[in-house]
Amino acid sequence: MSDYVERFRTSERILHWVVTCSFFTLLLTGLGLFSKLFHGYFGLFGGGQNAIMIHKISGVIFFFSSLYMFFNHKKDVSSFDDGDWVWIRKYGGYLTRYGNHFDIGKYNPGQKMFAVFIAAATVALGVTGLFIWFPAFFPRWIVQLSLLFHSLMFIGSIMFVVVHVYLATIGNPGTIEAMLYGDVRKLWARKHHPKWYKEMTGENR
Ligand code: HEM
Repeated sequence: MSDYVERFRTSERILHWVVTCSFFTLLLTGLGLFSKLFHGYFGLFGGGQNAIMIHKISGVIFFFSSLYMFFNHKKDVSSFDDGDWVWIRKYGGYLTRYGNHFDIGKYNPGQKMFAVFIAAATVALGVTGLFIWFPAFFPRWIVQLSLLFHSLMFIGSIMFVVVHVYLATIGNPGTIEAMLYGDVRKLWARKHHPKWYKEMTGENR
């Protein structure tokens, strides 16, 4: 009997890495637009004009792929059950030295909040990005507010993504296998997502 259980199909993994690549391209091309301090990053893209063009293209790719990813797993991230509320009351067990066992489905509440935040940020960044892209078509105050809001959402997204990458890699060993190979160890699934494990295999332990 296999020690692994499938967590993500190939298409889901490709979608996640398209979102990730476009996100980091947006970050690198956007930093120079955010502050003069980061103008050096334009060099990576052959100058400011190229960086702006690549920012726009990757912005469109990120917008559609990120929203598609959200609607793909909307069912799993858009509601909390009893096990989730226990997780929230105990801060996911992160603030105690003793092991906590929570009855968690495919995603824990932290992951759900992250997924919903990224979807909301995608819409906010996309809409404000359009106002900034075509300033001649909109009143000046809308473009000015968009610049502010675009920067704030960008800072918020970076903070969430840094935490996400940490928890998905060294924070929780074994998690990255889900996005690299599609399968996770049964041991990992029983520990982090016991309710999902039971749904997938019919086994309790
Ligand atoms: C190098 C960067 C990244 C790594 C290593 C990474 C890794 C992962 C892994 C391993 C999972 C599966 C977690 C599980 O099975 O429980 C995951 C899920 C997910 N990732 Fe990423 N990711 C990265 C970047 C991003 C970025 C940039 C975004 C969006 C802007 C993103 C959005 C998501 C979402 C929404 C999920 C599903 C919910 C969740 O697990 O939190 N990821 N990621």
